[in-house]
Amino acid sequence: MPEAAVHVGSGKVRELYELEDDRLLLVASDRISTFDVVLPTEIPDKGRVLTGLSGFWFARTRALVPNHLLALRPDGRSTECRRLQMLPIECVVRGYLTGSGWKDYCATGAVCGHVLAEGLRDSDQLPEPIFTPATKAEEGHDENIDRERAAELVGQERLDEVEQTAIALYRFASQHAAERGILIADTKFEFGLDGEGRLVLGDEAFTPDSSRFWPADEYESGRPQPSFDKQFVRDYCETLGWDKTDPGPELPAEVVAGTRERYVEAFERLTGISFDEYLADPQVVLR
Ligand SMILES: Nc1ncnc2c1ncn2[C@@H]1O[C@H](COP(=O)(O)OP(=O)(O)OP(=O)(O)O)[C@@H](O)[C@H]1O
Ligand SMILES: [Mg+2]
Repeated sequence: MPEAAVHVGSGKVRELYELEDDRLLLVASDRISTFDVVLPTEIPDKGRVLTGLSGFWFARTRALVPNHLLALRPDGRSTECRRLQMLPIECVVRGYLTGSGWKDYCATGAVCGHVLAEGLRDSDQLPEPIFTPATKAEEGHDENIDRERAAELVGQERLDEVEQTAIALYRFASQHAAERGILIADTKFEFGLDGEGRLVLGDEAFTPDSSRFWPADEYESGRPQPSFDKQFVRDYCETLGWDKTDPGPELPAEVVAGTRERYVEAFERLTGISFDEYLADPQVVLR
C-alpha cells in the first residue's frame, strides 16, 4: 500500500510499515474485534475514528508525557510515528470496577495486588483510579499481573514512572470525557522507549478499542453497562449463540450502520469536531 514502505507487521487492527529505521507508518484498518476475535465484516471509517481520536489526545497530553506521533496523513487512518522499543506490558488504568477487574475482585477481593474495599458492586467507581498492568499475550487474552511481576519485566523505577504517567493521562482524559457525557471506565496504554531511553506514549490513546466508553446518562452501578460503541455488535453476537471463538460471524448491514454511527458519535462528542471536518482535513484534531 504506501509505496517505498516495507510492511513489518500486522496487529488485529493495524498494519505497520517501516518508513526509515526510526520511523513507522501505522495504518488503522476498519477491522473490528469482539471478545478478542476479529470479525469478517468491517465497520467503514472505524480506523479513521481511532486515528483521529488518538491524534486528538496525543496533541493534548504532550505536557504529561511525550508521544510517538509525528504526522497524520490525509487519508485520516495513517499515522507517521517514531519507532519505539515497546515495553512488554499493557498499561491499564481502571476508574471503575468492570471486566477482568470485576472478575478478579469477585474471586480474590483484589485487582493486580490492589486490595479493594469489601462489598463493591459491578461497575462501581473506584475511590481513586488504579494501575493494573497485564502481560501482552501473543494470542488470546492478556493476563493481569501484580506490580511485583510487572517490575520484573520493566524494572521498578520504570514501572513507577509508567504508573504515575498512566494515571495522570487517565485523570486528564476521563475528566474531559465526563464533561461530554462519556465515562471512561478503563483504558490501556502502550509505552515504549526512544533512542535516549526516555519514556514515550505509543500505539493509540483513549480510543473505543483501547478503552471502555460508557454513556454517562445510562450509568447505573450494580450491573454491567452498555458499551458506547460495541453494544450493537455484542448484542447481535449474543443472539446467535456463537461460542466466541474464531471464526466470528458476519454482521448484517443494520448492525454495521448502527456501530459506525456510534463510533462517529464518540469521536464527535469527545473532540467537539464534526467527523466530516476530520475527513476533509485530519489536521483539525491536532489544533
Ligand atoms: N511507536 C511504535 N513503535 C513500535 N511499535 C509500535 C508503536 N506503536 C504501536 N506499536 C505496535 O504496533 C502494533 C499495533 O497494532 P494493533 O493495535 O493492530 O495490534 P494488537 O496490539 O495486536 O491488537 P490489540 O490492540 O487489539 O491488542 C502493536 O503491536 C503495538 O505494540
Ligand atoms: Mg493495539
